[in-house]
Amino acid sequence: MFKINENYLKLPGSYLFSDIGRKVNAYAAENPDKKIIRLGIGDVTQPLAPAIINALHDAVEEMGNAAYFHGYAPDLGYEFLRNAIADIDYKNRGCDISADEIFISDGAKSDSGNIQEIFSSDNKIAVCDPVYPVYVDTNVMAGRTGAYDTASETFQGMIYMPCTADNNFAPEIPRETPDIIYLCFPNNPTGAAITKRNLQDWVDYANQAGAVIIYDAAYEAYISETDIPHSIYECEGSRTCAIELRSFSKNAGFTGLRLGFTVVPRELKTGDVSLHSLWARRHGTKYNGAPYIVQRAGEAVYSDKGRQQLKGQVAYYMNNASYIYEGLKSAGYTVSGGVNAPYIWLKTPKGMTSWDFFDHLLHTANVVGTPGSGFGPNGEGYFRLTAFGSYENTVEAVDRIKAL
Ligand code: MLT
Repeated sequence: MFKINENYLKLPGSYLFSDIGRKVNAYAAENPDKKIIRLGIGDVTQPLAPAIINALHDAVEEMGNAAYFHGYAPDLGYEFLRNAIADIDYKNRGCDISADEIFISDGAKSDSGNIQEIFSSDNKIAVCDPVYPVYVDTNVMAGRTGAYDTASETFQGMIYMPCTADNNFAPEIPRETPDIIYLCFPNNPTGAAITKRNLQDWVDYANQAGAVIIYDAAYEAYISETDIPHSIYECEGSRTCAIELRSFSKNAGFTGLRLGFTVVPRELKTGDVSLHSLWARRHGTKYNGAPYIVQRAGEAVYSDKGRQQLKGQVAYYMNNASYIYEGLKSAGYTVSGGVNAPYIWLKTPKGMTSWDFFDHLLHTANVVGTPGSGFGPNGEGYFRLTAFGSYENTVEAVDRIKAL
């Protein structure tokens, strides 16, 4: 008789955004006349930039021509894309990262879920609270936690680092020593950023504790302040303790195309074993590479035209962010985020729970957001709105919320 992976049974409910999608679809089916504005999942709405579309067209033409056709992609990604990333994302920022330390993938969600596979199931995991649920759920699936405790809404054996208004939504070094630390900055869901000085403290701590930091920098394109690092490799000593995850979803609108990458420096080792070689082994075995046409589209993100066009796209979303921030603040809401990130984190009014506010907003304003408690117990009493809507919908949503 086959046996299942019983760790899956520890997970309560469904994936956060699947739950929200079901609730919203049910409401939409019952109320077909309502215009629902979706500022829940962080999905982009602006079309792909012209430089990217041109690259896609060219690559599609190549795929229809025997002389230029491409089959399987190289295990770790095409050189043209890895070189562009190494030069522009890293060397230009003074980070010592080479192309052969970059692994191209189909996105940061998959990478953030898969990366834990190269670590022992004995590792102690530390996550921020609130947190992007993928980091927690994938470690639960792998058996790195005990049962889910319904009273505290946490998994036994996992270290939760509270990110609250009291610490400006920045985690503090935990009392218990972790082996693997997940950090995401600019942060999803709170929109908070970390200064270079604070990130350096984490790097120093990880090196001293023998821990690995899995640094999710999916939102780095939204940084507007100068003392905020775009990469963990801006910190000294990070090559021996940090893996970085990057995405093309938020900076270039690839949520529907799928492309991302993970950086694993060669110095990141335990004894003689490098994590680079383990991740390369895993990648080569389980993955056949992001499509050629999508990697060509990714290359266009780094072209002069692409960079210029995407700067405009990021500015468009950040204009939405400031509209939401200012609008809700003027209406008396306590808001944060939205300056270095496309997420606005607000306190629910009148002590409502996050899910009560979700229902209230959906039913009375027909606006969808994400309940903070879905990201962890310290998200209770908070709510996340994304800046990824169209400007017109963003304005309408804020006006409807203000009118409540
Ligand atoms: C979010 O809304 O938190 C993100 O869009 C989810 C993701 O990037 O997978």
